[in-house]
Amino acid sequence: MTTQTDHPMDGFPVRPLVFDVKKVDPENLVWSRTSPWFSMFINALGLHVPYFERYLIRALSKAKTHLDDPRLLRDVGAIIGQEAHHAKNFMEFNQALVKRYPKLARYEAEAKAYFGQRAQTDTLKELVGFTAGYETFTFLAGALVLQNHDKWFADADPVVKAMWIWHQVEEVEHGAAAFEVYQALFGKHTWYRRRMVIAALMHIAGETHRAFVHMSWREGWWRNPFYGMASVAFCWIMLARFAWNALPVLRGNYHPHQHPIVTTEQNPIQIAWRRFEKAGGNVLEIDHQKMAEMMGVAAPSA
Ligand SMILES: [Fe+2]
Ligand SMILES: [Fe+2]
Repeated sequence: MTTQTDHPMDGFPVRPLVFDVKKVDPENLVWSRTSPWFSMFINALGLHVPYFERYLIRALSKAKTHLDDPRLLRDVGAIIGQEAHHAKNFMEFNQALVKRYPKLARYEAEAKAYFGQRAQTDTLKELVGFTAGYETFTFLAGALVLQNHDKWFADADPVVKAMWIWHQVEEVEHGAAAFEVYQALFGKHTWYRRRMVIAALMHIAGETHRAFVHMSWREGWWRNPFYGMASVAFCWIMLARFAWNALPVLRGNYHPHQHPIVTTEQNPIQIAWRRFEKAGGNVLEIDHQKMAEMMGVAAPSA
């Protein structure tokens, strides 16, 4: 049985959840009332990520044939399963974004072509190295977002909020898998691993920035240039936080299990979500009442 003392990365499962994104108001995709800037940031970040997730599936499926540790093989099977469900759900949500924001169709097509091409032509070392680099940030973002739930999306669309909590919990759970595959196959090449962490961050920043600027323009945030600039500054502060939290990753003896963001405190939402979902709780929509139920506290009065 899962207890609060379990490390979130131990024996993580595949959860084949399907979110009903049609319930999300297509005219209101700035879905966090607590922090509209945060919802735009995570929408911008999430546009290209499903194509990375497909790349990861290709990379780790290829790497699997070179591994023999049964525990790592199990984890690789589970991360592939989790990412397949992430990609499917977020691609569907992103269709709503593409309809509202005209330039996103091109950005999405470019992301698809970029990762599709690399999945075909990258060497095994490039596949696993870039995957491990990228997974550094999906893992760190997972932990950061859950830690800042109250500040960024306490009051939000229940379906999108539920999707992101699910995604971030699972990113933390499988946050060591790609790293361990890299270590098993190319562990001596620490400088290459570091380079891939930086390459992944640069790529994430470029993709997120251009989507954010376009979406903020389309939402009319630049009618007041100071507001527009402040929103883009928020986007860059978020990316800077990713970079700051990635500093321990550059150490030679790093392992995600020991990253301070996971070990200093187990995030209570993460613990509660995993327990609630495992007990058969419905996590497909999370409003105030569901959150209170999940956390085991009384629902706040409306
Ligand atoms: Fe994912
Ligand atoms: Fe991931």
